[in-house]
Amino acid sequence: MHAYQDLVAQAVRDYEGFWANLAATTLDWSKPFTKVLDETEAPFYKWFEDGELNASYNCIDRHVEAGNGSRRAIVFEADDGKVSYVTYADLLNGVSRFANALKRRGVGKGDRVVIYMSMSVQGVVAMQACARIGATHSVVFGGFSSKALNERLVDVGATALVTADEQVRGGKTLPLKSIADEALALGGCEAVKSVIVYQRTGGEVAWKEGRDFWMHELTQTESDQCPPEPVGAEHPLFILYTSGSTGKPKGVQHSTGGYLLWAAQTLKWTFDWKQNDVFWCTADIGWITGHSYITYGPLALGGTQVVFEGVPTFPNAGRFWDMIARHRVSLFYTAPTAIRSLIKASEVDSKSHPKQFDLTSLRILGTVGEPINPEAWVWYHENVGGGRCPVVDTWWQTETGGHMITPLPGATPLVPGSCTLPLPGIMAAVVDETGQDVPNGQGGILVIKRPWPSMLRNIWGDPDRYRSSYFPEELGGKLYLAGDGAVRDNGTGYFTIMGRIDDVLNVSGHRLGTMEIESALVAHPLVAEAAVVGRPDDTTGEAVCAFVTLKRELPVGEDATQLASELRTWVGKQIGPIAKPKDIRFGDNLPKTRSGKIMRRLLRSLAKGEEITQDVSTLENPTILEQLGESR
Ligand code: PRX
Repeated sequence: MHAYQDLVAQAVRDYEGFWANLAATTLDWSKPFTKVLDETEAPFYKWFEDGELNASYNCIDRHVEAGNGSRRAIVFEADDGKVSYVTYADLLNGVSRFANALKRRGVGKGDRVVIYMSMSVQGVVAMQACARIGATHSVVFGGFSSKALNERLVDVGATALVTADEQVRGGKTLPLKSIADEALALGGCEAVKSVIVYQRTGGEVAWKEGRDFWMHELTQTESDQCPPEPVGAEHPLFILYTSGSTGKPKGVQHSTGGYLLWAAQTLKWTFDWKQNDVFWCTADIGWITGHSYITYGPLALGGTQVVFEGVPTFPNAGRFWDMIARHRVSLFYTAPTAIRSLIKASEVDSKSHPKQFDLTSLRILGTVGEPINPEAWVWYHENVGGGRCPVVDTWWQTETGGHMITPLPGATPLVPGSCTLPLPGIMAAVVDETGQDVPNGQGGILVIKRPWPSMLRNIWGDPDRYRSSYFPEELGGKLYLAGDGAVRDNGTGYFTIMGRIDDVLNVSGHRLGTMEIESALVAHPLVAEAAVVGRPDDTTGEAVCAFVTLKRELPVGEDATQLASELRTWVGKQIGPIAKPKDIRFGDNLPKTRSGKIMRRLLRSLAKGEEITQDVSTLENPTILEQLGESR
């Protein structure tokens, strides 16, 4: 704790010096920076702006040049259990060839490449290859629908798309290329000149000559030499779409220098990363966790990591524990949802209980993505970590690039359910609606008071939305608004996250905007109006609950069940299966004020099954509450 406090004090004393020192020692710069933080166009901050570097060089070449080419970079385990090993030399070869193939297809510095793939070495290679030539990647999670993919292709102005024929998860094959074809056919993305396809299963796919290319055919004939393109530290390394409270998803734009610095540095601090560790982050490369703690952080450190194609419950719910034992994983990072579902599964099937496996290789356990309930924390600590391994509950976001508030293992005394203290250099605070600090013990709005190197730089193509979403005038225009509520403990000053304060839901650690789901529902020909709220769920943290009015008579019985199922499938097609509402309730109307505003807090109470004790005198139609409360 003294070492931690020293670092915190250093950052307070000399903020720029603190960050400059980390950036100079953690990364290799082809042109060293002389400037640290530029605030002249705040909140459009710039870090290390005159420095140049290449992310792929930092993640691959420098380890090979240091004589570590034969070190294992990736232990890949396929859905069916087949294991393959990739060294840093292999990565250099594969990434260079693919980077050359991209260049031959006309992709260059600043161009945007969308990557729509499942978990694979090739997915990581594609991201690294973009970074190598200075192209900006935008990974779209393989579970998103053709419509969602189309919107992202259009918004980001992609010129190339990398995908796979099919993905394999839980013993099933699921299409990717055909969804990509549908997305392209929806139009607006005519700038996409090349579709490069990784052949995962050999399943049948439609083919458009001159546009579609097999990844293995393109790379076969390319040279394995591709000098990394130096880019300015502020060059956009990637754009990753995430849900906000209003409108369409936001393209969160990250930098190269500041982002990479924090991806690597946080892994060192939060997981006490050491050279002989085997790290395993179970996230998908389609989310920020997969970017920072699969593609960039572990590779920047020259570490060894496990990459897994499948799901935790196939062939049985012991899969994670079996893999930890077989690969001697020492640092394990997963989501509370996964833990909760594996707790349940182990109660039903004792053979899948972690106690049945040799988990002695584990050193540190981590969680991310949503609040972890103390019961799940304790189970994880006891049964997976054998009571020996610190659990780091890491709070951060797509926008923050890396960990922000988290215990440091072995240093910070742990409290289940609390992400404890901000990392050194991260000026986190809890404020009221006017931006004033609130005393410890009192809940408020979580903000970050100073810019930090790995923060988002913009919302792609929408600087006004960047400013209004993250630096709202109500808070004075200078504080970064995280969108979460939090409270600090009176004694320890520890932070506890209390969930989103906006209309964003967190289902199984996936971020979903209620408006996105509402728009999807009202696009259905039978739906007149829809309001979506979250309700607590034992496994997924939050569940999507939709209140729907129809353009026809109110359905009852079997009719209602069928229609609800049709609407779920519809939302799955519009956004992706993760957005399907768990509950759908039909009503003749929605609870509204006389001015026509939907009273969401009442819907939230109804969704939870609570009795309405709040004042409903401003409601135009109070009887609707009874109807919506009954229909399930
Ligand atoms: O509400 C917080 C929750 O997840 C949100 C960020 O979601 P996303 O951008 O998808 O990134 C997830 C992976 C970093 C936050 O605003 N969240 C994330 N980590 C935690 C958390 N809530 C509580 N505790 C956490 N450790």
